[in-house]
Amino acid sequence: MEKISRTKIVDLLKCRDFGAMVNVKGWVRTRRGSKQVNFIALNDGSTINNVQIVVDLANFDEEMLKQITTGACISVNGELTESIGSGQAAEVQARGIEVLGTCDNTYPLQKKGHTMEFLREIAHLRPRTNTFGAVFRIRHNMAIAIHKFFHERGFFYFHTPIITASDCEGAGQMFQVTTKNLYDLKKDENGAIIYDDDFFGKQASLTVSGQLEGELAATALGAIYTFGPTFRAENSNTPRHLAEFWMIEPEVAFNDITDNMDLAEDFIKYCVQWALDNCYDDVKFLNDMFDKGLIERLQGVLKEEFVRLPYTEGIKILEEAVAKGHKFEFPVYWGVDLASEHERYLVEEHFKRPVILTDYPKEIKAFYMKQNEDGKTVRAMDVLFPKIGEIIGGSEREADYDKLMTRIQELEIPMKDMWWYLDTRKFGSCPHSGFGLGFERLLLFVTGMTNIRDVIPFPRTPRNAEF
Ligand code: 4AD
Ligand code: MG
Repeated sequence: MEKISRTKIVDLLKCRDFGAMVNVKGWVRTRRGSKQVNFIALNDGSTINNVQIVVDLANFDEEMLKQITTGACISVNGELTESIGSGQAAEVQARGIEVLGTCDNTYPLQKKGHTMEFLREIAHLRPRTNTFGAVFRIRHNMAIAIHKFFHERGFFYFHTPIITASDCEGAGQMFQVTTKNLYDLKKDENGAIIYDDDFFGKQASLTVSGQLEGELAATALGAIYTFGPTFRAENSNTPRHLAEFWMIEPEVAFNDITDNMDLAEDFIKYCVQWALDNCYDDVKFLNDMFDKGLIERLQGVLKEEFVRLPYTEGIKILEEAVAKGHKFEFPVYWGVDLASEHERYLVEEHFKRPVILTDYPKEIKAFYMKQNEDGKTVRAMDVLFPKIGEIIGGSEREADYDKLMTRIQELEIPMKDMWWYLDTRKFGSCPHSGFGLGFERLLLFVTGMTNIRDVIPFPRTPRNAEF
């Protein structure tokens, strides 16, 4: 077959150079037609849309044509023509076809309409479906939007370590990193493992957050963000938790909690606007296919100001709901760590828009949050979203060395792990704030998918690390 340089389908469908000879390569989605003419829907992943290949059967070898089955990979030379029937403006009249990779009938994506559960079992192939193609193109676009948002505002992308010896969130749900022989662990007289001879000479884990190192950077570069993989060994088998997820953590010197809320709101709105502006075909597909309210919800978030409400007020609203007969699975009282059902009640039923809840009880929040004058609450902020619950968690940070030290001692956090963090408060301490956005939670919102396992290519969850 004559060598013609390849045109991606996304570009081909926009091309109006009818009569030109083009080459397209891709995977066969469907093939239909008569004894004389066949129509192949070809997709190469560059867009949700297929290009239609028109094949005059008389011009081609019968054995070759037999190999053009669903899932097969082909290269087509042909004439770009104006299309009448394909739903697209352009189609290709095939002049030459080469089968690059055949695909037999054990290919699991023969038919449409597989369940999400089944597609998770074939996560190595599911990107070839319309749905996952759309989701992963949107995922890429959101990553670009995030970098653009911060870069345009003078933030520096700062790489924090993935292997760490400190537990930022203090929840202790960390995956250990070791080169020790697990069958032959050296222990001291109390039965505690001796790590002196381990790779790092001490106990090490995968990071649960880049925040603490992010704070070091913010108190030097002013405004930074991290964007990297994050690991949590919490045994939560929910549609919103992953053991490996991606988090974006901006940290800004001189920002107080209000600045932090403004930044979070602008940030999310920027990302949602980006999706509507740059991924409309994919968003529209997901809207029509799964979730007729998706586009409306995205547009709604752009128009509305987020509610800003102290935790204590939020609890009052929830208690009133209970008094009026609303049933929650988990109890509501001041001091409780809100469950997703509580968060969603506030967002979806009470306010009907995103809510930023602030000033949580210090007992349910991390040690580094700025302590309020009341002695009971800290300057935390969680951004709560429809259908998702918590999408962002953050706070103003405790900048006072003595107050921070007291909290570290109360919580019995080992000082040997924290000396470097405390140096930020010792040497030119400054007020500062930051937050963490769960990338996959944002994607749940933007794609309308209902399970977090369906917005990351290869999900890691309890008892699942396939692929
Ligand atoms: O609220 P979190 O635990 O906050 C922190 O880690 C802070 N260090 C952030 C900061 O202030 N720099 O986590 C932040 C966000 C959550 O709001 C949620 O969106 C997401 O990370 N997240 C998860 N996403 C998927 N699976 C999990 N297991 C998650 N845990 C948290
Ligand atoms: Mg949180």
